[in-house]
Amino acid sequence: MEKTRAAITAVNGYVPDYILSNLELEKLVDTTDEWITSRTGIKERRILKGQGLGSSDMAAAAVQGLLKKKNIAPEEIELVICATTTPDMQFPATANIVSDKVGMKNAFGFDINAACSGFIYALVTGSKYIESGQYKKVIVIGVDKMSSIIDYTDRTTCVIFGDGAGAVLLEPDQSGAGIVDSILRSDGSGRVHLHQKAGGSVLPASHETVDAKQHFVYQEGQAVFKFAVTNMADVSAEIMERNQLKAEDIAWLVPHQANKRIIDATARRMGLGNEKVMLNIEKYGNTTNGTIPLCLWEWENQLHKGDNIILAAFGGGFTWGSVYIRWAYN
Ligand code: UT7
Repeated sequence: MEKTRAAITAVNGYVPDYILSNLELEKLVDTTDEWITSRTGIKERRILKGQGLGSSDMAAAAVQGLLKKKNIAPEEIELVICATTTPDMQFPATANIVSDKVGMKNAFGFDINAACSGFIYALVTGSKYIESGQYKKVIVIGVDKMSSIIDYTDRTTCVIFGDGAGAVLLEPDQSGAGIVDSILRSDGSGRVHLHQKAGGSVLPASHETVDAKQHFVYQEGQAVFKFAVTNMADVSAEIMERNQLKAEDIAWLVPHQANKRIIDATARRMGLGNEKVMLNIEKYGNTTNGTIPLCLWEWENQLHKGDNIILAAFGGGFTWGSVYIRWAYN
């Protein structure tokens, strides 16, 4: 019998209905559809509209659909890990709010904040609880309501981000499928290039911080781009090498969707053609923690048991990494 691995046994996603197109952004800021498309690959993104709605509402919708798909009662879930950069509140954890909304009464939960790499950090963390043998049903969520921290007068960031949620169920597998390997990295010195200045313990919210627009995403795009291209490609090549995977062994690359040019560079480095790369940036933009599970959700019908899949991400922190999964179901 193979060792016990954590396998993804179901995927679901949720995106809000409202579509913010490049054409609408042209009316808000000094930009063009041509600039956005050629520099990022994005055509439109989804925005969660409505008073009192937050990340937990999108996550709860994704999780409810996930449980329905698998015909599992919410009480069966033992652990919920929520990767998010836009939690409902500073505290408590959004994972707990989602558990309450969905009725996962027997689960404990916590959030992981690793910016755009949060989902893969959370997935690997969740996998360890399964591998230990102590837990059998773990839900991992990636969700962000990026529109809550975006300045829609700043053309350098407002064209990039969108809202959305994805969730996966992890269960033990002894057939050889599951999460086989992972490489997770971080470098805190990169924080100067991508962060939110106020609202934390260093610079708590005040009239001044609001007036100075310090509760929005601050990004030095070019600097982040340089690190992202190198690190996402390097870590993806490294996980292939140490698992003796050649390009032809890989069924899919599931990259974080920050910029089509970063994704293309990663695929090139891995020797993969476009036909093996999941890409939804055109429709959803950068949903931060949502990108990877939303891709898996959309491509679920095309995945086969035994497929070798590489997830790769790079984000604020800096954080980055890759995960090698042998897919568990048809
Ligand atoms: O997901 C987390 C990690 N984040 C990332 O991985 C993002 C990495 N960075 C990027 O994807 C790219 O750097 C951006 C998409 C953010 C920007 O693209 P870029 O090709 O690096 O553009 P740039 O910042 O070098 O700006 C080029 C020009 C500038 O004008 P000048 O100085 O050359 O006159 C900008 O002011 O484009 C201008 N610009 C725009 N023009 C039209 C910046 N944003 C816009 C815009 N529309 N929305």
